[in-house]
Amino acid sequence: MKNSEDLIENTDPSINSLKKLVDEADRIVIFTGAGISAESGIATYRGAGGLWTKYDPEKYASIEYFRKDPTYYWNFFKEERHAMMAQAEPSVTHRAVAELEKQGRVSAVITQNIDNLHIKAGSKRVLELHGNTTRFYCCDCRAQYGLDEVKRLADQEVPVYCQKCQGIVRPDVVLFGEMLPANVIDEALREAKICDLMIVIGSSLVVYPAANLPYEAKLSGARLVIINIDATPLDSVADLAIHSSAGEVFPQAVGYES
Ligand code: APR
Ligand code: ZN
Repeated sequence: MKNSEDLIENTDPSINSLKKLVDEADRIVIFTGAGISAESGIATYRGAGGLWTKYDPEKYASIEYFRKDPTYYWNFFKEERHAMMAQAEPSVTHRAVAELEKQGRVSAVITQNIDNLHIKAGSKRVLELHGNTTRFYCCDCRAQYGLDEVKRLADQEVPVYCQKCQGIVRPDVVLFGEMLPANVIDEALREAKICDLMIVIGSSLVVYPAANLPYEAKLSGARLVIINIDATPLDSVADLAIHSSAGEVFPQAVGYES
């Protein structure tokens, strides 16, 4: 990774402003949403072409509907999710975040994403607010299953039944109507309160309690940067809001070359 001094002065003022904020920070927290994975080929939820424009989240991603008709989720998994998740590779931004953590500059990645790409990119301290869809478990006996194993089972029959007790298998993600894992949200809140810079990458910041965290960071005295193609409700409180794609600004600002 090139250090910021020998980086040629970037002509883009927002990259220079971001670089300055990163250079001045001691404890950076990265907060990510679906937008950071858009460059890995994973559809975002809202905005142009978003998943929720094609699928009804009240059916696909709600615990109430899953209990009523788990087949809907499992068909969606077979048609859309598995291929997307199994083939997706971390974007240059995922990798730049992991590199910054390796340099001891990032204390935690707080992600709303369930695609496992921060872990795949090499980030170590990843707080997954909404779980991880490469992990599955039986609703009854909690037996655990991996992505490829449930794909093999789903190809035989949907919904997927536990091979040990015939219970229904579900993804290890937070569905609408469920609470976020208390230990994860508590740890994320602690990190948000003690960082001196929070960088939001690719989130519409409309889903709570996750969207509270950047606000908490700001209230606790941190600087706040938002990198998001569309405007977000927190742009007005951010120290810097950059409406560009993550891959065009973040890696350059932190001196990461893939
Ligand atoms: N670079 C930066 N931002 C991008 C990019 C990109 N390449 N591509 C898309 N975006 C932005 C869009 O402008 C959009 O505002 O990413 C944002 C993604 O917003 P959402 O699709 O709402 O995703 P997210 O904020 O992560 O959703 C939060 O909602 O449905 C639930 O549980 C789900 O975790 C998800 C939560
Ligand atoms: Zn079971």
